[in-house]
Amino acid sequence: MKNLSKVFLITALSFCLVKGVYSFEQWNNLSPEEARTIVKLLDDVYKYYIVFDTINHVDNQGKTPAATTTKQVFKEMEKKGWHSARLISATDKALNKENMPKDEFEKEAVKVLREGQVFFEKTETVEGKKVYRAATPVPVVLKECKMCHVYVKDEEVMGSIIYALPLGQ
Ligand code: HEC
Repeated sequence: MKNLSKVFLITALSFCLVKGVYSFEQWNNLSPEEARTIVKLLDDVYKYYIVFDTINHVDNQGKTPAATTTKQVFKEMEKKGWHSARLISATDKALNKENMPKDEFEKEAVKVLREGQVFFEKTETVEGKKVYRAATPVPVVLKECKMCHVYVKDEEVMGSIIYALPLGQ
């Protein structure tokens, strides 16, 4: 948990350094280009952490899987108003059915990511507000993934992280 806090502190500091300390107050005026940069930064942090955590703790019975921790982090980030995100399955054999693609965007994302596209994005209007949505692939990067996800094949795109950030209106 300590390592995770460090990662987020570094992420927050990077934003402050890049955009000035008051940048958070302007979050609601994001352009799609800015939202894309933020998603790419977050994606690197989350994916680094998921792989690091899996390599280091996978043989520890009883350790919470990286996916479960990640979902908890996503919940917290959403509560704080930074972004929302979902870790979803790109196969029809999700360990948790809750992680199956739900809406049109998620279904389309899974399709194009499995076909080899590396990034998928759209600006949508949800309840009258503009939202930037993006999807990145989650491939089977380690053999350790298959300890629990026994059905996946090496390097297959088995999932996706789906992000949503509010845009300037
Ligand atoms: C220790 C067991 C374990 C390992 C190892 C593991 N996972 Fe998972 N993974 C889970 C569990 C349990 C869930 C469901 C969590 C939930 O929704 O609460 C899950 C969910 C997922 C999901 C969402 C789709 C689904 O199946 O529900 C993706 C994508 C995923 N994991 C990717 C990976 C990747 C990539 C690796 C290797 C880097 C990996 N996992 C390693 C246990 C594991």
